[in-house]
Amino acid sequence: MTPDSTPTAKRALVTGATAGIGAAFARRLAADGWHLVLVARDAARLAEMAAELTGRHGREAETISADLSTDDGCALVEARLAAGSPVDLLVNNAGISLNKPFLRSSVEDEARLLRLNVHAVMRLTLAALRPMTERRDGAVINVSSVAGFGAVMPGSTYSASKAWVTNFSESVGQSAQPFGVRVMALCPGYTRTEFHDRAGINMSKTPEWMWLRADDVVDEALRDLRKGKLVSVPTWKYKVAVAGLRHAPRRLLQAVARDTRGRIGRDQA
Ligand SMILES: NC(=O)c1ccc[n+]([C@@H]2O[C@H](COP(=O)([O-])OP(=O)(O)OC[C@H]3O[C@@H](n4cnc5c(N)ncnc54)[C@H](OP(=O)(O)O)[C@@H]3O)[C@@H](O)[C@H]2O)c1
Repeated sequence: MTPDSTPTAKRALVTGATAGIGAAFARRLAADGWHLVLVARDAARLAEMAAELTGRHGREAETISADLSTDDGCALVEARLAAGSPVDLLVNNAGISLNKPFLRSSVEDEARLLRLNVHAVMRLTLAALRPMTERRDGAVINVSSVAGFGAVMPGSTYSASKAWVTNFSESVGQSAQPFGVRVMALCPGYTRTEFHDRAGINMSKTPEWMWLRADDVVDEALRDLRKGKLVSVPTWKYKVAVAGLRHAPRRLLQAVARDTRGRIGRDQA
């Protein structure tokens, strides 16, 4: 399984494929010759994206309208992964943040975040890996975040959910390798998408240099997947940030976190 620029008849299923990083994956993979299965909730936007990909690249683009924070939504996508034309690449990309600190949050909102960012990723990864390991071919990219490398945003369950995605992907990636299947966590920093607007997070004070383009994130992710990496952190500036988060003394990170506490709920990546 090689996502490269050679036209292939391979098929990728992308969740959250109508906006941001998921749409960038869908467009890039279609341009590279992949057939697509597009998943999101908004059926009209899905149909628009499918028409764009088919019109521009002549690729097949199935759509599944599903809310992945629900059991029924996950079951729909699991059923597609289990039957029909084989899916060679799963991109678990759909994810949300909340614009409120945990102490002011509700069980319903936190559960919705965990169901989409964690539970759906677990279910769809398992559903995809079964046929992939049998075929001894395939790959899964789980879109995580640099936010998962440290509790630098106190009061946020988003970081914790992404720490789970990264740890889970690295762990499962190692057990899938002997079967010829790759699993990789993709950990972007701030990326220009609809993500922060949807959560109502004000990003106006975030400096321009911190922002990534979704297309660049996808380029680097596909390169890292080809190299067999288990964890991909696009761009050197976020690699440096992650090295700091991984190796700086805990007390220093906690001091930085205290300093940013006032901004929580506004600046989560
Ligand atoms: N943007 C950043 O700065 C950033 C940084 C690090 C990591 N990430 C991660 O990157 C991933 C993609 O984020 P993005 O920035 O591209 O977000 P985005 O622009 O807001 O796009 C989100 C996509 O997910 C779909 N979606 C949302 N809720 C869903 C649900 N319950 N069920 C199914 N689909 C759902 C949306 O379509 P519908 O609304 O139609 O469902 C849309 O297609 C997320 O996992 C996020 O945590 C983002």
